[in-house]
Amino acid sequence: MTSQKKITKAVIPAAGLGTRFLPATKAMPKEMLPVVDRPAIQYVVSEAVSAGLSDVLMITGRSKRALEDHFDRVPALEQNLIEKGDEERLRLVHEATGLGDIHYVRQQDPKGLGHAVLCAKQHVGNQPFAVLLGDDLIDERDELLSTMIAVQEQTGGSVIALMEVEPENISAYGCADVSDVEDSDYVKVNRLVEKPSVEDAPSNLAVIGRYVLHPRVFEVLEHTEPGRGNEIQLTDALQELAAAEGEGSGVHAVIFRGRRYDTGDKLSYLQAIITLAIDHEEIGERLTPWLKDFAQTL
Ligand code: UTP
Repeated sequence: MTSQKKITKAVIPAAGLGTRFLPATKAMPKEMLPVVDRPAIQYVVSEAVSAGLSDVLMITGRSKRALEDHFDRVPALEQNLIEKGDEERLRLVHEATGLGDIHYVRQQDPKGLGHAVLCAKQHVGNQPFAVLLGDDLIDERDELLSTMIAVQEQTGGSVIALMEVEPENISAYGCADVSDVEDSDYVKVNRLVEKPSVEDAPSNLAVIGRYVLHPRVFEVLEHTEPGRGNEIQLTDALQELAAAEGEGSGVHAVIFRGRRYDTGDKLSYLQAIITLAIDHEEIGERLTPWLKDFAQTL
């Protein structure tokens, strides 16, 4: 049996092609698109570190330089800010470089999210680990990852996060058929389907970009055939684990009712920027009245 240590590793896949954001993502990963004043990926790394995951492995693809550079120190820039006495901006620059231990591995070919997770096998080893999608933001005021880690420690299998969506929107997501677990605030996953048609969807519970996985998922991913979109789907591997027996089997889910923004989709990306900018200490007070006036003109 796997002796379970405290979960400390986070895997952040950021190797997708980001075709929905072309041409902005032609030479830059979509995870580097700014959300107010930080690239989306910085929010995700901060969330992992805040949940106690001090060892972060980023799965990168083409044009990975921007990602690596963002979390690396830039001595000339720091020196320039020191000389100007601009302590506030220096603090902001240090925020990105002080996030701890970030490692990188290359996904040679973007063969799907399941394949991206499999690229983490060697780094992760034989312990449960978290996966945070680099284009999916969870508002830091709403707790999710630490709840999922606690559920994994309790159940021993894998844990996913689900969110209720309008039934007509379910085809954009992985979808779960679940049943209640007595006396607990999480549910058991019976079946998972990647992007079902509205008629075939077993529920309106959509899989969102946070996972806490048992390492048995690697064994399954090694033989998972390309599925929807000819990509190796993490959902397909999780479906197999949900139906399996023995150590590391079983999938449970936490139903998230907080704020989440998908920065890989144009509309949701703009909504994320506006929502976070309204609360931003530097611009929020000026943006809100402008936004109200602007809305009157529509
Ligand atoms: P998406 O499903 O959003 O795919 O990936 P995508 O290719 O990045 O974007 P579109 O659909 O072409 O616009 C979800 C997450 O999984 C990562 C992405 O970077 C994103 O964080 N991913 C996806 C990989 O790391 N590798 C892959 O092969 C596919």
